Amino acid sequence: MTDTNAATAASVPLAPGGLPLLGHALPLLRDPLAFISSLSGYRGLVRVRLGPTSAVVVCDPDLTRHVFLNDRVYDKGGPIYERIREVIGDGLSTCAYPLHRRQRRLCQPSFHPARLTGYSAVFARASRLKAASWHDGDVLDITQEMMTLTTRATMETMFSGALPAETMSRALSDTAVVVSAFFRRMMTPAALRGVPTPGKRRYDHARHRLSATIEGIIAERRADPTDHADLLSTLVGAVDEESQDGQRQLSDGELADEALTFFLGGMETTAITLAWALHLLATHPDVQQRLRAETDGVLAGGDLDAAHLPSLGLATRVVTEALRLYPPAWMMTRRLRQDAELGGVRLASGSTLVLSPYLLHRRGDLFPDPDRFDPDRWLDAQPDRATYIPFGAGPRKCIGDQFALNEAVLALTAVVARWKLSPVGEEPFRPKVETSLSSRGLLLRVADRRQDDAGGTGGPQRHAAVPPQGTACPVDHRAARGAASPRSDAAPE
Ligand code: HEM
Repeated sequence: MTDTNAATAASVPLAPGGLPLLGHALPLLRDPLAFISSLSGYRGLVRVRLGPTSAVVVCDPDLTRHVFLNDRVYDKGGPIYERIREVIGDGLSTCAYPLHRRQRRLCQPSFHPARLTGYSAVFARASRLKAASWHDGDVLDITQEMMTLTTRATMETMFSGALPAETMSRALSDTAVVVSAFFRRMMTPAALRGVPTPGKRRYDHARHRLSATIEGIIAERRADPTDHADLLSTLVGAVDEESQDGQRQLSDGELADEALTFFLGGMETTAITLAWALHLLATHPDVQQRLRAETDGVLAGGDLDAAHLPSLGLATRVVTEALRLYPPAWMMTRRLRQDAELGGVRLASGSTLVLSPYLLHRRGDLFPDPDRFDPDRWLDAQPDRATYIPFGAGPRKCIGDQFALNEAVLALTAVVARWKLSPVGEEPFRPKVETSLSSRGLLLRVADRRQDDAGGTGGPQRHAAVPPQGTACPVDHRAARGAASPRSDAAPE
């Protein structure tokens, strides 16, 4: 029920720095993290303007959780999802509330724990292969490397078996073009979005070709009814028992949308998480050394496999902390399906809300010393469901959260088992803010630990020597902060 005495959205404070016509588009485009962090001083709601439209940013963890849990009122929508819908239609992550429950029921079996075990075996193998492909002294574009790893792993778990190299590299480059265009297109006024610039042509070409690649794979699978125990088989065989005749399955078009959703939703986010985690290890040699010790102890000279996952405590905490500092989905949007009251403010149907894990994860009152990389903050503490939200929450929480965590922990372990990581250059590395918090362009140097073995300074069986000193994190968090200052979620309340 809406309280008629509640204030209206017009009474919500307007963020400073807006311009008459553009609103806050310029600071948001120029330095989105600085802008979003500058709002953390507002403890409830704050308004921002993007050209003629305005949105309300939710700065409070309990209000954020309330919005997540009540998807009947606060539906998927807003500029990010409108752009993503251009590519994946009404897939699970973009569909509106009335379609969502059924789609989630159909997709959920693909992420059943029994299936996850099989996927983790694929992750372990793909990670070992990736780690074995580097050479001592290589300087790596680590995001690109992790993208090829997660593309391969996603393709194999989704479509069982490696795809031809040419299909793989085409899918990879098309995905990169599509994903990096989302944020730019979100910020571009509607009237200019259709202008056939070279960038728009590249984007259209990439999204059509990516869809065609996925549809081709699905057509092959439809012709072959064997259960391949992969994600696509589960989707093809999924039956909605709550449908009218209890038999309803996904159509070809729905299948393509879901496959593309998993592909786009899972690949880049996990690759970025891994790149940030490796970067944090490279710049915090003390943690890296401890992780090497954990890895060597757990593997005991054998090959990494999925059964090692429960023993990889520090690797799991490193991934958890990387997701706190650099949540790939740094902001999400919602659109009101009806009038509602939030935090004592009346909001009209159609209003846009912005939710930001980055804003909450960097608040000093919620996370002591919030800019510090400290995996041990998770030693005795379970992530709090209201303040730690890299996967969102509620009915729309990431369906691939455990899939991604398993993949990231195994990949991190495979890399550390074989390589020492160090940063390249002195300059702090700044995130590239797009729809996701990207690590694009991040370089890392790898040194073969077996060289240490030969020199007798350490190595896989002997806990490697301490790398060079200097644990200050070279990521420019201050610049990002600007001048101003798991699991099971309840059903909707
Ligand atoms: C570290 C990696 C990942 C991160 C940080 C991440 C983050 C998120 C977040 C924040 C949401 C909720 C968005 C919102 O409420 O607006 C979400 C939803 C979703 N994610 Fe992920 N994700 C990751 C990996 C994956 C993977 C591996 C898959 C699939 C294989 C996946 C598939 C999805 C899907 C389908 C949804 C929509 C769920 C629904 O609406 O029911 N994600 N993800």
